[in-house]
Amino acid sequence: MQMNNRRPLVAGNWKMNGNLALIKQIEETFSKTDISHVDVVVCPPFPYLGGFSDNDFALGGQNISHFESGAHTGETAVSMLKEMNCQYVILGHSERRADNYESNELVANKVGLALKHKLTPLFCVGEPEDIRDNGQFFDFIAEQLNAVIKEVGIAAFNDIVIAYEPIWAIGTGKTASPEQAQEVHAFIRQHLAKQDSNIANQCVILYGGSVKGSNAVELFSQPDVDGGLIGGASLNPEDFLSICLAAKR
Ligand code: 13P
Repeated sequence: MQMNNRRPLVAGNWKMNGNLALIKQIEETFSKTDISHVDVVVCPPFPYLGGFSDNDFALGGQNISHFESGAHTGETAVSMLKEMNCQYVILGHSERRADNYESNELVANKVGLALKHKLTPLFCVGEPEDIRDNGQFFDFIAEQLNAVIKEVGIAAFNDIVIAYEPIWAIGTGKTASPEQAQEVHAFIRQHLAKQDSNIANQCVILYGGSVKGSNAVELFSQPDVDGGLIGGASLNPEDFLSICLAAKR
């Protein structure tokens, strides 16, 4: 195995959940524990971004508009996330692909826009259950990756975090097995390596889908799993902390 200096990362995606009280609880919980071995990111809904104080963790948005500014009611510009101290933004989440009809090309545009403004995309890929069952998931994920590679080029993957989130494992309690996660993470790395092996080796790849305190150690110990993108369990500060502590050292 090639040497790498990938830093583990755990991100919490609150989705459309949480409140001001949760911000307090999570800040209190994290202030008591050393999490310096892992980059931790919290991605609350937009209205709560201003409610966080200086923390040991970074902030991320859950989406950006594909427009930079202007008459787009209800949208949030990438520059606004920057101004609210975000360093990351989740892009291409399967819930946005489904609820908001986000295509691979639109996601790729947003990745380009985030990079232009120096926000790190947490770029999500992952197959639905029928594609898992018919065995076409490598092709499906390759297509999602290719759209972004085409838009921003392989070198940009120095500044992109990839999250593999099999849709059948999101919010279902049906976690991918560590072997299933590793298989896809290795595939993603090999796919990038076809164009640049150094970039592939350094790219941080997270697993997401029903990660809990009880399965995080096993998932994160896989060689190509560099951390996690956590939904439900990130709403419980103690659970989220235990997942962060499970990251590789
Ligand atoms: P759960 O952890 O609730 O399965 O959600 C995963 C996810 O979609 C994170 O973005």
